[in-house]
This record gives sequence, C-alpha cells and structure tokens, in this order.
Amino acid sequence: MNKLPVNPFKFGDPVDGDYYLPRPDLENFVSQFLINRIHVVLIGPRRFGKTSFLLNLLKKLNKSSNSYIFIDIFNITSHKDFLHQMLRALKNREGWADSVKSTFKAITNLRPKISTQIDLNTGTPSFDFTLDSVISSEKDIKEIIQDVLSSLSKLEKGLIFAIDEFQKITEIDDGGWLEATLRTHMQQLRNISFIFTGSRRSVIYDMLNNPSRPLYKFCQSIEFPSFGDEFTDWVLKRFMNVGITCERDAIQHLRKLVQDTPNYVQMVCFHLVALGKNKITIEEINNALKIVVQQNAYAYQTLLSTLTPTQQRTLRLAAKEGKQIFAKELLSKYEITSGAALSSAIKSLKDKEILDEEGAGRGTVIFDDPLFAIWLRTSFE
Ligand SMILES: Nc1ncnc2c1ncn2[C@@H]1O[C@H](COP(=O)(O)OP(=O)(O)OP(=O)(O)O)[C@@H](O)[C@H]1O
Ligand SMILES: [Mg+2]
Repeated sequence: MNKLPVNPFKFGDPVDGDYYLPRPDLENFVSQFLINRIHVVLIGPRRFGKTSFLLNLLKKLNKSSNSYIFIDIFNITSHKDFLHQMLRALKNREGWADSVKSTFKAITNLRPKISTQIDLNTGTPSFDFTLDSVISSEKDIKEIIQDVLSSLSKLEKGLIFAIDEFQKITEIDDGGWLEATLRTHMQQLRNISFIFTGSRRSVIYDMLNNPSRPLYKFCQSIEFPSFGDEFTDWVLKRFMNVGITCERDAIQHLRKLVQDTPNYVQMVCFHLVALGKNKITIEEINNALKIVVQQNAYAYQTLLSTLTPTQQRTLRLAAKEGKQIFAKELLSKYEITSGAALSSAIKSLKDKEILDEEGAGRGTVIFDDPLFAIWLRTSFE
C-alpha cells in the first residue's frame, strides 16, 4: 500500500511544532506578568488553544531560566485527586528527582512510601511514592496538600506553577477550602508565579470579582484573544504545502462559522484533506462542515433529550439569534413564556456547560461547542 501523506492539520489534543501557530504578542504580554511575579488567569473559550499556548510558553520560559510545574485538573473530583496531580507533576520534572525527593522526605506523611528505582534502559534514577493507605482521611490529605505547597519554596527560584482548567477547583465541595489554601500559599511563596487557565467565564469572573472569595482581585486576568489574519495565512500555507489550493474567503467563512475556534478550523481542514479535495471553496467548506456536524448528530440528539422544553427552545433561540436574546419578539417567536424563564434556562445550560454568557453583559450567549449551534440551526429550519 502507498504511504498516505501526512495530514497537515490536527485537532483534539494540544498541538506544538508545525501544528502550532505561535502567538508571540500574547507570549510576551503574559511573560511580563509572570516574570514580575504577578499571578495570571488566562480566560478563553473551550478549544481555543489555551493548553497549547500554556505549554509552549512554559517550555520557552524554561529555556531562558524559569522552570515550571504544570498540572491539569480537568478530571479531578476530590482533594486526593488534586494532590495526586501535584505529586505526579513534581515527580516527572526532569532533573528534579533529588531536590523533590529530599523535599518530600521532609513531609512525614509521604516519607514511608518513597522508593528509588533505577531505570533499566537509561540508568537514571527515578523515584516513586504512594500515599499511605492509612492516611487517606480527608484531614491528612489536606495537611499533605499544604505541606507540598509549602515545600515548593525550597525548589528553585523563578518557578512557575501552572494549573490548567482552573475553574474545576470550585467544583470540589469543600466550602472553598482549596481556593483559600491556594491563595494563602500564593501569597507566601515569594519566588513562585502562578498561571491559571479556564474556560468558564462566568465562574472565573465570580472568583476574581466577588469580594467574599479568596482570590478577589488577586490575579491579573487576561483574555485569550482570537487569532488575526495570520491564522488564515497559516492555514492557506498548510494546504499549499500538500499541493491543495484554497480560497482565502473560504477560510474566513469557516472561521466565522465556528466562532473562530482553532480546533474546529483544523478539524474541518483535516477532513477536507482526508476527503482528497484539491481545490477548497466556500461550498467545499460547507459540505465538509455538514459531514463533521452530522458525525455528532447522535450525541446532540441525546443531549437535547435530557433537557426541558424551555431549555431546548432557549438553545434554538441562542443558536439562531445569539445576540439580544431577551427581546420581546424573540421570546414569543421561540415560545418562551418570560424573561425570567429564559434567565433560568440559561442558568441551567451554563451549569451544564452548554452555553456561557459573553462578558458581563446580558443577552449575548456563546456555545461551548459551535458545531452544536450549527446543528441546531440546520435541524430546526
Ligand atoms: N496556536 C495554535 N495554532 C494552530 N492550531 C491551534 C493552536 N492552538 C490550538 N489549536 C487547535 O485547537 C486544538 C485544541 O487546542 P488546545 O487543546 O490547546 O485548546 P484548549 O483551549 O486547551 O481546549 P480545551 O478547552 O478542550 O481545554 C488543537 O488540537 C489545534 O487543532
Ligand atoms: Mg485545554
């Protein structure tokens, strides 16, 4: 069989190298804060490239002088999970085995389970630890989290501590303990900068702007911007590299349809290459998008069936109108009984992470998944 050419597009997971278009302005901007030890929260919609950006930035800073710890807390459900993520990140840092090990040894609750191994392939020593099963009580876990955070001060200066999907800490039902604990340590750890990313705009907005929350005005929040024209140029060039011609308008059209989400731009382009197209027009984009959306139809149908009629109507309204959705004519057109009913439906849909509100303003909503919006528009014509 002939070897298939490599597809120049990638989607789903974080990207780097050739698949990653650098964002030098944002890199410089964010670095300024971190280097001067101002903690940063980077807020951007789902699938916009937050994790890719963060990892690229950290690697770059690491080359110049700042080492880092990166943890992804998207899947945590408890303090124990959080602790595990933290320990794992520390353990995996290259060249840190010794300092991390001695730091951990000082934490009595961890010590009994630390063991050193020699990697048989490379000969380098690594170490492992397991949390003692005896110390699984919530109180112990909390103590270890605090000990590990304090111990970070013993690691090198200029360390950057990055937490991806930061808003997840609000979902742990602990009366805000973890949020408050982080704040305390962020204040005490004089030589560490923290950077958080998150996509739930309304959740993060409350964390930073509600005076009763521990992180009130404690971090610089930075909006994760959309790409400018350079992204279109980049996509055209990626097509050109594999001998495919593509109209500029076609990519601009695609970007608009998918709320300028890089993940979906790359996804649709991936399909176009996979389908063997060699001339991309707006029409080809529409066809490919239809295929991609259709692939998710079952999931969307299932999701809809779990919602109340008012929530379903709200989604149709949001998908078709998007802006000023509280207008009287729209409420009656979409059979929603009142503004209050719409508000409460939006709130539920936000909690389910289907919709989010733009900025602080009422009446403009965006979909977590822009393909879902496209599907809604085409299925309820
Ligand atoms: N700088 C970039 N250049 C090109 N494509 C990008 C870039 N950043 C992101 N993408 C596209 O978006 C996809 C998702 O990227 P990434 O996982 O970094 O986003 P995210 O915002 O962290 O997503 P999630 O909300 O799922 O955590 C990548 O697979 C890639 O297709
Ligand atoms: Mg991510």
